[in-house]
Amino acid sequence: MSFKIVILGSGTGSNAKAILEAEKIGELGKAETLALLSDNKGAPILDLASQYEKKCHGIYCNPLKAKLSHTERDSFINQVKYYNPNLIILAGFMKILDSTFINAFNGHIINLHPSLLPSFPGKDSIQKAFEFGARLTGCTVHWVTPELDAGPIIDQIAVNIEPEDSINSLTEKVHRAEHSLLPTVIKKISLGEILMP
Ligand code: GRF
Repeated sequence: MSFKIVILGSGTGSNAKAILEAEKIGELGKAETLALLSDNKGAPILDLASQYEKKCHGIYCNPLKAKLSHTERDSFINQVKYYNPNLIILAGFMKILDSTFINAFNGHIINLHPSLLPSFPGKDSIQKAFEFGARLTGCTVHWVTPELDAGPIIDQIAVNIEPEDSINSLTEKVHRAEHSLLPTVIKKISLGEILMP
């Protein structure tokens, strides 16, 4: 039986692409992506749907607000529930989800964050680590809780910040690590090697 996942993202979708590629080559365990959803109707992540023969939905949300309105949140809950997923993946989803959303899916939601949490939560984490002069950063996958970027950590990959790194080279290194970490975590959860909360 397949382990159904739905991906939520707001932007480029390079991590969604990494998941879909892993699935295509049989490297996503039992996980099967059913749909891609975005709060940004013009987001490139939605273009991946036709390429990988998946469903997609762009739900209009106020781009100026970090949180979803109750109506926006309920639209997301309904759309996601339609697919009855085992797990929801936040891959560059830029809206903060409240406890109503999280409880609607029993907390079976994971988020990818571009730093070694608990360091550098919130926005612009790669830049913050670089400007702070950290020698080590990386990426984290964690369970989603109502507190931003603070849920239990599932797994991380560390990335060294070398003296010759620029913000661009560091960004590239962190993204490369993310593209490996997220599909691996999804695979392990789908196979029961990582237990759901
Ligand atoms: C990633 O760096 C992720 O950690 C952060 O947003 C970015 C999304 O990139 N939450 P993409 O849309 O997957 O290319």
